[in-house]
Amino acid sequence: MENHANILIVDADQTLGRSLEQIFSGQGHVVERFVAGKAALDALSNRTPDLLVLDLQLPDIDGWHVFEQVSDLGDVCPVVVATGRELPEHTISTFLNGPGDYLRKPVSAEELAAVMQRTLENSRLRKEVACLRSQKSERYGQPSIIARSREMHQVLDMVAKIAGSDAATVFIQGESGTGKELVARAIHYQSARASQPFMAINCAAVPPSLLESELMGHEKGAFTDAKNLKKGLFELADGGTVFLDEIGDMDPAMQAKLLRVLEERTFRRVGGTRDISVDVRIVSATNRNLRKAMEDKSFRPDLYYRIGVIPIHLPPLRERREDILPLAEFFISQFNRDFNKNIRGISRMAQKILLEYSWPGNIRELRNVIERSIILECEDQLLVENLPRELVAQSVDDNIGPLNFQLPPEGVNIEDVERELIRQALEMASGNQTHAARLLHLGIDAFRYRMKKFGFV
Ligand SMILES: Nc1ncnc2c1ncn2[C@@H]1O[C@H](COP(=O)(O)OP(=O)(O)O)[C@@H](O)[C@H]1O
Ligand SMILES: [Mg+2]
Repeated sequence: MENHANILIVDADQTLGRSLEQIFSGQGHVVERFVAGKAALDALSNRTPDLLVLDLQLPDIDGWHVFEQVSDLGDVCPVVVATGRELPEHTISTFLNGPGDYLRKPVSAEELAAVMQRTLENSRLRKEVACLRSQKSERYGQPSIIARSREMHQVLDMVAKIAGSDAATVFIQGESGTGKELVARAIHYQSARASQPFMAINCAAVPPSLLESELMGHEKGAFTDAKNLKKGLFELADGGTVFLDEIGDMDPAMQAKLLRVLEERTFRRVGGTRDISVDVRIVSATNRNLRKAMEDKSFRPDLYYRIGVIPIHLPPLRERREDILPLAEFFISQFNRDFNKNIRGISRMAQKILLEYSWPGNIRELRNVIERSIILECEDQLLVENLPRELVAQSVDDNIGPLNFQLPPEGVNIEDVERELIRQALEMASGNQTHAARLLHLGIDAFRYRMKKFGFV
C-alpha cells in the first residue's frame, strides 16, 4: 500500500465529517464522505477503501447493513465504528476483535482521527507482513515446518545436517500425512541444490509399465507410443533432487533397475544404448514398513540398504501431541489469508478435543479439519460446533460423557449444577463474560440472563 490511503466516511454529522476530511486530506489521503447509507453502499459495491469510518445511525438505512457489506471483506478493509447508539457487548467485541475499532459518541474529531490513524497503520503493517511472507516463500520455495516436539526438533536437525552434506540418498519413513514430502522439499531447498529442480513422483500412482520411462526417459521409437525422445526425471532433475514417493509400492522389476542406477550412477533411456550419468540426490519415502516388506520378499534388501543409508523417521501426530496446537494455529493463519477470515485462536473446549483425538490421517487430516472449520466459523474463535462430528464423538467416548459427570444416586438439583457451571466458567475466563459464555456455548444474552438469575450480578 502506498502511503496515502482511501478513506470512506459514512456519518450524518457533517461537522465531524468535514473536520476529519480536513485532517486526512491534509496528510495526502483521499477522503470520500457520505451522509446516508444507500449512497455509501453503492460506492462500496464497486470499490474497497483502505478504511471505513461508520456511524450506525444513518438517516435512510441502518448503518449495520453497511458494516455487513464490508465485514465480508475481512482483513481487507478495517472499519472504525463511531456511534451514539447503545450496542450489546458481544457486538462491540466483534469490532474490537476485528481489524477495526469502536468508539462511543460523542467523540471529538481529534479522538476519532487518532483511532483512525492507528487502525490505518496496523492494517498497513499487516499487509506488508503478508506480502513479505508470500514473496519469501515464492522465492525460495521453502516450506515452513512447524516443530514444537522434541521428536520434530530432532528431525529438523537431521534435515539441516543432510542438507549441508552431499549424502546421495535419504530415506523417509512415516505414516501417510506425517510430512514426508514436506521434509524432502526442506532438504532440497536448504541444500546447495536449491536452485536446481526438485522433481517428485509417486511410484504407487504410476503404472509399473510406465514408471521406467518416467524415471529414465525413452528414445524415439522405443515402443509404440514413443513418438519422440523423452527425458526422464533423473535427467530433468540433473543437479537437483528426485523424490521417489511410496517407494515401498515399486514393483520388483523396477526395484532391480533402480538399484543399478544407484550403484552405477548411470542409466540408459528405455530403448537407448548410451549410458547417461547425472548428479541427483535421491530422497525416497514410504508409509510402509520396509523391514516387513523385506521379510515377505516384496522389497529387495539390497535396495533397502542402498536407499536407507540415512533414514529419517517421522512419528505419527498422536505420538507428538505438543505439535498439534502449534500446527493448528499455523493452519488457521494460512486459511485466514486464503479465505479472508480473521479467526483468532481456538476455544478451550475445541483445543481439548484437538489434543485428544487420535489423528489417523496425521497432519494432513488436521489441516483438512482446520480448513473446513475456518470456512464454517462465523465467530472470531474456532469453536467445537464447527469441528467434524467424529472428532467430538471420539472425545466424548474417551471421557464417558464430555464432563465426566456422574449423577449421584440421590439425584441433584439441576439449577445447582447450572449455577456451579456459570461460576466455573467465569472463573476460568477470569471474569470475562464473553469468554465465559463461549465456554458454555451460550450467546452473551443467554449467559447474562443466567448470571442474573443465579445472582452473579
Ligand atoms: N511439521 C509441519 N509443519 C507444517 N505443515 C506440515 C507439517 N507436516 C506436514 N505438514 C502439512 O501436512 C500436509 C501433509 O504433508 P505431506 O508432506 O504431504 O505428508 P506425507 O507425504 O507424509 O503424506 C501437507 O499439507 C504439509 O504441508
Ligand atoms: Mg505424501
